[in-house]
Amino acid sequence: MASSDFQPLQGMSDIYAPDIFLWQQAEAQARDILKLYGYSEVRTPLLERTEVFSRSLGDTTDVVQKEMYSFEDRGGRHLTLRPEGTAGVVRFIAAGGAERLDARVYYMGPMFRAERPQAGRKRQFHQMGAECLGAPDPLVDAECIAMQRHLFSTWGLKDTRIQLNTRGAPEDRDTVRDGLREALVPHREQLCEDCQRRFDANVLRVLDCKKKSCGEIVEQLPPVTSFMQQESRAYFDEVQAILTRLEIPFAVNPRLVRGLDYYAHTVWEITHHALGAQDAMAAGGRYGIAMSGKTVEGVGFAVGMERTLQALQAEGVEPAEGDAVDVWIVSLGEDVLQENMILAMALRERGISCRVDGRRSMKAQMRGANRAGASFVIIRGEQEMKEGLMQVKDMQEGDQSAMTLPEVMASLQKKLT
Ligand code: HAM
Repeated sequence: MASSDFQPLQGMSDIYAPDIFLWQQAEAQARDILKLYGYSEVRTPLLERTEVFSRSLGDTTDVVQKEMYSFEDRGGRHLTLRPEGTAGVVRFIAAGGAERLDARVYYMGPMFRAERPQAGRKRQFHQMGAECLGAPDPLVDAECIAMQRHLFSTWGLKDTRIQLNTRGAPEDRDTVRDGLREALVPHREQLCEDCQRRFDANVLRVLDCKKKSCGEIVEQLPPVTSFMQQESRAYFDEVQAILTRLEIPFAVNPRLVRGLDYYAHTVWEITHHALGAQDAMAAGGRYGIAMSGKTVEGVGFAVGMERTLQALQAEGVEPAEGDAVDVWIVSLGEDVLQENMILAMALRERGISCRVDGRRSMKAQMRGANRAGASFVIIRGEQEMKEGLMQVKDMQEGDQSAMTLPEVMASLQKKLT
């Protein structure tokens, strides 16, 4: 095998120490916060039938058209590695009884999109997402955004920005599309090539085109809310009023449309300044997705974990715990090895982490202790065994003393647990 065969595929990464400690900390904190709001975890399969995604995200979306890892399996089934979490959750909800239709669930795990890898864009990335199922209600949308902010502040992120917009009710879809097309007709020739195509296929996406010339045209358009029915505008006003009442800062961005078709009413994106061009750290919104003859309604969001970790590192957040072991046991001579293993088991039963070393020089074993960041080293050779003693070295203080087994247990338990 060439050495490149040992590397992960392009756009995918091994995640390991020390980075993994911040991941684990963020995940543990997320679980605590989600519990406070009544969410429980769901683990849906990574692989689903392709239509689970194509039907819910929308056939004309970039994700479905260009980014899915899809293949036919040996049975001729069309399958796709999940590019996001909402569609799988909705399949799970639709498969259950009525009691699932107002569930609150969260998920954490890898997602797959065959994008061109670049800073902030990976082919396997991780999302932490939450979905609150149930009928549209501005209170629930606002609470979902508030929970997300709670999560970010618990993680230690200070500089996040919430951008908010509405897609209107499902009944507004056609009027919004027609209104936008009509307003764009006089500028059609000036739109970029992509937007010329979007004009027919998915006119909403013209609004978030990154090209400056298209941006200038979009500036002159009436806001999307002007094409919506009064009820939809009132719904959006209420979401904003609740967020203001909860003292959650946000900015309305009339150009924010989100790239997936399932959204209706509130949509949002959360950005962080440290992320560069791909500055969306998290995104969410309310949706209605038809599956197995049911329409599943809900509101939710997904946080991009790689981007979040990058933002946490930029803000100087450090994990509270690493993988340093408490105790390193140095064994001098073959005969003490088994006794030291028994000692190690007794320490672990008391919640003290330890490793037994041996079969190499004392110097090499001490180097191992240093590398592992051990707080204490226990040294036991044949002489100590005979005397019923062991040497205990405090690696921080540097002092060393001979102790009996009960003394070691009492002293380490006091200092380490
Ligand atoms: P999304 O905007 O496609 O929404 O993805 C959410 C977040 O995942 C993004 O803001 C970004 O942080 C991260 N992300 C997306 N693609 C990549 C990538 N290629 N590399 C690294 N990070 C990426 C959704 O997935 C919706 N399911 C969110 C949602 C849940 N809406 C309602 N419920």
